[in-house]
Amino acid sequence: MGIEQIKELVSNMTLEEKAGLCSGENFWNTKEVERLNIQKIMLSDGPHGLRKQDAQADHLGVNESIKAVCFPAGCLTAASFDRELLTTIGEAIGEECQAEGVGVLLGPAVNIKRSPLCGRNFEYYSEDPYVAAETANAFIKGVQSKKVGTSIKHFLANNQEHRRMTSSSEVDERTLREIYLAAFEGAVKSGKPWTVMCSYNKINGTYASENPVYLTDILRKEWGFDGCVVSDWGAVNNRVLGLSAGMDLEMPGSGGINDALIVEAVKNGELEEKVLNETCVRILDVTYRYLENKDKSAVFDLEKDHALARKAAEESIVLLKNEENILPVSKEKKIAFIGEFAKKPRYQGGGSSHINSFKVTSAMESVSNLGLEYITYEQGYQTQKDETIEELKQKAVRAAKNAEVAVIFAGLPDNFESEGYDRKHMRLPDCQNELIEEICDIQPNTIVVLHNGSPVEMPWIHKVKGLVEAYLGGQAIGEAVVNVLYGKVNPSGRLPETFPVRLEDNPSYLFFQGEGDVVEYREGVFVGYRYYESKKAEVQFPFGYGLSYTQFAYSNMKVDKNSINDTETIKVSVDVTNTGTVTGKEVVQLYVSPALGNILRPVIELRGFEKIQLEPNETKTVTFTLDKRSFAYWNTAIHDWHVLSGKYTIHIGKSVRELVLSSSVTLESTTVIPVRYDLNTTLGDIMKNPRGKAILEAGQAQMFAGTQAKEMEETAQDSSGAINDEMMQATMEAMPLRQMLSFIPGMRREMLQQLIDALNNN
Ligand code: BGC
Repeated sequence: MGIEQIKELVSNMTLEEKAGLCSGENFWNTKEVERLNIQKIMLSDGPHGLRKQDAQADHLGVNESIKAVCFPAGCLTAASFDRELLTTIGEAIGEECQAEGVGVLLGPAVNIKRSPLCGRNFEYYSEDPYVAAETANAFIKGVQSKKVGTSIKHFLANNQEHRRMTSSSEVDERTLREIYLAAFEGAVKSGKPWTVMCSYNKINGTYASENPVYLTDILRKEWGFDGCVVSDWGAVNNRVLGLSAGMDLEMPGSGGINDALIVEAVKNGELEEKVLNETCVRILDVTYRYLENKDKSAVFDLEKDHALARKAAEESIVLLKNEENILPVSKEKKIAFIGEFAKKPRYQGGGSSHINSFKVTSAMESVSNLGLEYITYEQGYQTQKDETIEELKQKAVRAAKNAEVAVIFAGLPDNFESEGYDRKHMRLPDCQNELIEEICDIQPNTIVVLHNGSPVEMPWIHKVKGLVEAYLGGQAIGEAVVNVLYGKVNPSGRLPETFPVRLEDNPSYLFFQGEGDVVEYREGVFVGYRYYESKKAEVQFPFGYGLSYTQFAYSNMKVDKNSINDTETIKVSVDVTNTGTVTGKEVVQLYVSPALGNILRPVIELRGFEKIQLEPNETKTVTFTLDKRSFAYWNTAIHDWHVLSGKYTIHIGKSVRELVLSSSVTLESTTVIPVRYDLNTTLGDIMKNPRGKAILEAGQAQMFAGTQAKEMEETAQDSSGAINDEMMQATMEAMPLRQMLSFIPGMRREMLQQLIDALNNN
């Protein structure tokens, strides 16, 4: 139905029908308007599978949902750095939605991983907004190609679970733009999600659900969002304020209470009916996008999607350590699989994203299917409590000793990490660390496979030879891990986040969770690697890191222009060759380092990535196009993106720490930033203006003749070198104009004012 027809439909609705349309009929459906033959649609979680509840509903994954397929969670799929893969997963889930009559899938979740402690990091993609946006964009395109909507969430600055319903994220304008908004911006502009889900929290004191700056000014006016905003479940505070701010659909609804408030507000003039009409148009537009494209032939093929879940995990698992090429392991070797997660993998997180998986394949089951002779298993630790059961541990140590290789499946149990609360520390359970240490003491060939939604500290890292990061890998993770361990799959995932050595190293450490309901994002734009790189801090594993069973060589980096102005684009290309003996995939990463300037900036930022597959000896050329945004920062004086004129370095890297090639380019800004001069403008700042420089230099001779400044200069020459030229220069540059009245005899206020006027009037 076209927008004009929808407007017509809305004009035939009563005030009560319109107010009613703005909230859910129940937990998962919008309302019908029988009189006008308007049907309801169903929304369901998301993001990494379908959690459709037919009977008892809830938003915490407590009650049963239909049997479905659990794909790897966002923490793992983001590690694929593979847009195509994300689109394929999106298509599969979109098809499942069509088969199940679900009109909107509640995802993707793109909140930035500000701290490793956020309980919901497992659902989120990255600490980097570009990776988060690109991953989300690819996923949205996949789901929506099936004419099912997505709901990109949780908008905005919802980066912790602690007091998420009431806390206020206090974030400065530039940090919001460069980090937290940017994760949504890219995906909204290019993926065009049908809906955006506003978060529970406040942003700088105003609830996200009633914040016109984000819901209307930025989302709709700046980014061109043409869908509808849905509240997170129960995120509405003041319904009428929310409506005016651009919050369209309240979910799950308020039993009619808020609908009545809307009616009252229109009647008493507090709310313009026009606003309500526009809201209804947006809700109906999304409703009909789905209703008119219901696909009766869609099928939910559980086994086919299980196979895709396995492939997704295989393409995303990150190989973090491979000393002496312990991996892949030979099928002839006697291997002890140790740890409860080998039999019962932790493959998804708790809360609203919890999928009722129709089956789960464990590593033990998968390895048994290979018919290998020499595999043993010991549980090693328990997951109910963080307490060592001595007997379990001893048996595991013995099994490890009797094997040629020990593979320990470790990770975070469910109660260590979940929606609803944050982690208390960054450690694995003590009982698991103890087990790993003891096994390493007797078995030099130890490999650890991790199941976790967010980084963990690794006190044993120097003792293990292999480390495989499987994150929360979905229901087919066991097969995927076995295929990686035995080399059927060559791992190609890269970390979409930094693994710090200790929690205390994380830039948000001192401020995470805040005080009461006030959470100040004091680390500003220095989130994740933006901080670690700027500080040259030691990390456990850097952003972008991951190994392969083959090697790649980089050569022939080309930049098509050496200097551009900020309205132009630049092309960067590089050749990548597989120099090893097996087929593999490489994630080619492009970073930009800004020129040194007055602006406080991260020393390096990711501005592009491409994943390519290469046969042994094969070479491919990868090309990137960079534009203004690749070099810009958010300038709060002009409230816009701004490029400082100067030199920038473009790096090609294997990770943010392993930059292999680089080239520089000079950028010229086309933005004139107006400067206002006054008595407190420094001489240094005036000298930066060519006119100011000319005026000052012309007047310099007489100005300084016989002045205190002159005396100071002479003193400097006389002194024992304690006062040097640099110091004089710095003193002059830092001097505000008004001080000339004190230091230059005969200087009058009118003279300075003339100078100021001349500069201001240009
Ligand atoms: C979560 C959302 C989810 C919704 C519905 C909320 O508690 O924050 O991500 O989509 O519940 O289950």
